[in-house]
Amino acid sequence: MSSLNAHTRPLILDGKAIGNQIQKEIKQQVDEFIFRTKRQPTLAVVLVGGDPASQVYVAHKEKGCAKVGLASQRHFLPEATTTGELLALVQQLNADPAVTGILVQLPLPKQIDGTAVLDAIDWRKDVDAFHPTNVGLLSQGRPRFLPCTPFGILQVLYRSGIKVAGKRVVVIGRSDIVGKPIAAMLVQRTGPFGPDFANATVTICHSQTPQLEEVTRSGDILIAAIGQPKFVTAEMVKPGAVVIDVGINRLESGLVGDVDYDGLLPTVSAITPVPGGIGPLTVTMLLHNTLLAARLQWGE
Ligand SMILES: NC(=O)c1ccc[n+]([C@@H]2O[C@H](COP(=O)([O-])OP(=O)(O)OC[C@H]3O[C@@H](n4cnc5c(N)ncnc54)[C@H](OP(=O)(O)O)[C@@H]3O)[C@@H](O)[C@H]2O)c1
Repeated sequence: MSSLNAHTRPLILDGKAIGNQIQKEIKQQVDEFIFRTKRQPTLAVVLVGGDPASQVYVAHKEKGCAKVGLASQRHFLPEATTTGELLALVQQLNADPAVTGILVQLPLPKQIDGTAVLDAIDWRKDVDAFHPTNVGLLSQGRPRFLPCTPFGILQVLYRSGIKVAGKRVVVIGRSDIVGKPIAAMLVQRTGPFGPDFANATVTICHSQTPQLEEVTRSGDILIAAIGQPKFVTAEMVKPGAVVIDVGINRLESGLVGDVDYDGLLPTVSAITPVPGGIGPLTVTMLLHNTLLAARLQWGE
């Protein structure tokens, strides 16, 4: 790994390359699994309505499955679907032994009770790790599934040799999808990559945090999951910090993250680009979880 020195060029954390490498490893594991069990794990992808960004994400997930040798099923429902109709589909997928993973693409249309739907997914098939059982197990430090985007962040840190133990990590954003679970993972005594990639001192910020800049400047590692284009400027970052940009914002000029990438380059020691940073890891870790779910259900 190149030096993490603020005075040299920062390390650009290439999520695309890391994701490709992990997908190669998953493909090998899937091939071995199918050879041994003579069964192919299957991800059921559920999309309600025609949100264009969701359609792109779902297409990436299906393509990812095919790339590593997993099967996928499409369940596309109309925008006007009711909570009851969606729950009926989830129950049907729960009961289908051929379906090993269930992914309900978010956000759901307003009329649908999203919590009821996520709660209804069999936690053994919950490849997104949003079910309260999986959230609770993670919180207690004994996870079965790790949520895909936070797991992707950890992979990038681990495979780039950026230890988190003893560091101050500041997370901006408290969503159930990114902010809260990444904080929960980094604060544990250990994790999938051992104690060096856990044991951080973690602070979570949100829109009600006073003196935000003061807090964010205390982070040796700063993780931005806000949903506001280029929100994090150089003044908000400790010189030499590692910056993980989770944001995906669609502007007319293209995709941008939650951090001012160009403005931060002279200050930081390492940074993820957008696109090509955390995004590719989210799909990759979904594939990992789909294989894990099959192992759990089929006892391999
Ligand atoms: N790379 C990937 O694969 C991936 C995966 C998931 C999400 N994302 C992207 O990551 C970003 C965040 O997603 P999310 O689902 O976590 O978003 P979210 O649910 O909208 O949460 C955003 C968080 O940012 C906080 N926030 C908003 N404005 C703020 C401000 N001015 N100062 C401080 N905090 C502020 C909010 O605070 P409050 O709670 O107080 O409102 C909230 O906790 C989005 O751009 C999303 O597209 C990317």
